[in-house]
Amino acid sequence: MSISAPDVTPDVTPNAPWWRSAVLYQIYPRSFQDSDGDGIGDLNGIAARLDYLVDLGVDAIWISPIFPSPMADFGYDVEDYCGIDPRFGTLADFDALLAAAHARGLKILLDFVPNHSSDQHPWFRESRASRTNPKRDWYLWRDAAPDGGVPNNWISDFGGPAWEWDEATGQYYYHAFLKEQPDLNWRNPDVRAAMLDVLRFWFARGVDGFRIDVLWHMVKHADFPDNPLNPAWHVSMGEMHRVLQRHSTDQPEVHAIAGDMRRIADDYSTPGEERVLIGEIYLPLERLMHYYGQDESGVHLPFNFQLIDARWDARTLAQMIADYEAALPPGGWPNWVLGNHDRPRSATKRGAEQARVAAMLLLTLRGTPTLYYGDELGLEDAVIPPDRVQDPRELREPGLGLGRDPVRAPMPWDAGAHAGFSTAEPWLPLGADWRTRNVAAERDDPASMLSLHRALLALRRRHPALGVGQFRLIEAEGDVLAYERVCGDDRIVVALNLGATPHPVILPPGAWRLLLSTTPDPFTDTLAPNQGVILQPER
Ligand code: NOJ
Ligand code: MG
Repeated sequence: MSISAPDVTPDVTPNAPWWRSAVLYQIYPRSFQDSDGDGIGDLNGIAARLDYLVDLGVDAIWISPIFPSPMADFGYDVEDYCGIDPRFGTLADFDALLAAAHARGLKILLDFVPNHSSDQHPWFRESRASRTNPKRDWYLWRDAAPDGGVPNNWISDFGGPAWEWDEATGQYYYHAFLKEQPDLNWRNPDVRAAMLDVLRFWFARGVDGFRIDVLWHMVKHADFPDNPLNPAWHVSMGEMHRVLQRHSTDQPEVHAIAGDMRRIADDYSTPGEERVLIGEIYLPLERLMHYYGQDESGVHLPFNFQLIDARWDARTLAQMIADYEAALPPGGWPNWVLGNHDRPRSATKRGAEQARVAAMLLLTLRGTPTLYYGDELGLEDAVIPPDRVQDPRELREPGLGLGRDPVRAPMPWDAGAHAGFSTAEPWLPLGADWRTRNVAAERDDPASMLSLHRALLALRRRHPALGVGQFRLIEAEGDVLAYERVCGDDRIVVALNLGATPHPVILPPGAWRLLLSTTPDPFTDTLAPNQGVILQPER
């Protein structure tokens, strides 16, 4: 196999910002911890679990949207960008959470949803009030086609046309997601100014960064041409994939907007307190790389989702990692993700044994990893009975397996009532195995997934090679994926067996000592089935 990456990745930058060596942890706030007995997680619930996160060993949390919202898309439909939804708490609760996190050395990232607001946002209420309203142009209004139909063939990501007819003013408005989520018009300078002020509002309060929702969606082609049909479309993919989103996403003008956001983040940064921007972008590798911006003028971390969907095969992964490293622009820092609130969980995709190997991979690759809450327990997708379905994605295109409720089940803390998540019935059912798979049960079990994560995170902290070191693939065969991380005289080798049969591995010359294994097996020159190991030179 030929791998097109540089042999060794670039040198370690001195005085790197905190987020380069950090591990991020995503909290879906409805599902983490309820504090007030309404069955919905909230900010005081998160505050009560900060010590768990410190003990786990993560550096920062990203909280999915907590702003006032009608919850048509569970907070990704924002009604007020500078407030807190009462279900989650108050601004005072948020300030207290931020202070408590900072006191523990934890950073907090919020979720910025700039592409669309709620249809209940005052801006949209004004915009739809009349064609001459000063906010009319804040959203994307178009006349009907000559036959009275939709302006073009664009499809909502949740299925159905992306255009909604407004009877009162006789025009359609565009919504990339639900009709309750009208897209903002980022070509309008007043929209830009108002939304950039939102970033300043939260940065001034002390927020450490943002994950930016659907960054690549923000600008559409000015003429709204039809999207090309997708020749590979199949009904099982969901309706959105009927067309290729050539004109509705990833337009060149988006990069200037990302640049504006970056300048604001930089303005609020001081050494050790850098503010970080992470862009949600689902695009092929080379287009993804543009979001780093020319000369580091874009977002710091365009999310790299490749591991979520990757074929779980050592050679495929080796090539994918090499290609990604090779594609990074100068100064671009890598990042890796195994799951989030929209995608199937790692343990469901790979099975329990390989989920442990995947965790070792995620936390030892070069770059900033993001853990999804509950993956550290090995949670699988929960089974949601039809009468408990909440996700609009599932309700609009049922039965295709596109629904996201299964990955949003409540965090199981202990074997008590409602798994310690709430005193009331949770908004979504718990996973079936919560009585045995929960934080309390796993904490004291050295063989648990939680203990594996704590050990991995502790090793990352202790070894600069893992935190920021260079990366080099080690020649390997079959099911083995192996690589080396180096920072100064700190040297680590990782060897992973992605298969269920023993496999020999050839290590770089020298004697190697086992630091951590995903299985109880000793380390020899043959990896046991599903065994991943972290090694250090024998001194
Ligand atoms: C991406 C978010 O991750 C997803 O949960 C949401 O439904 C859409 N953006 C729309 O905001
Ligand atoms: Mg609550």
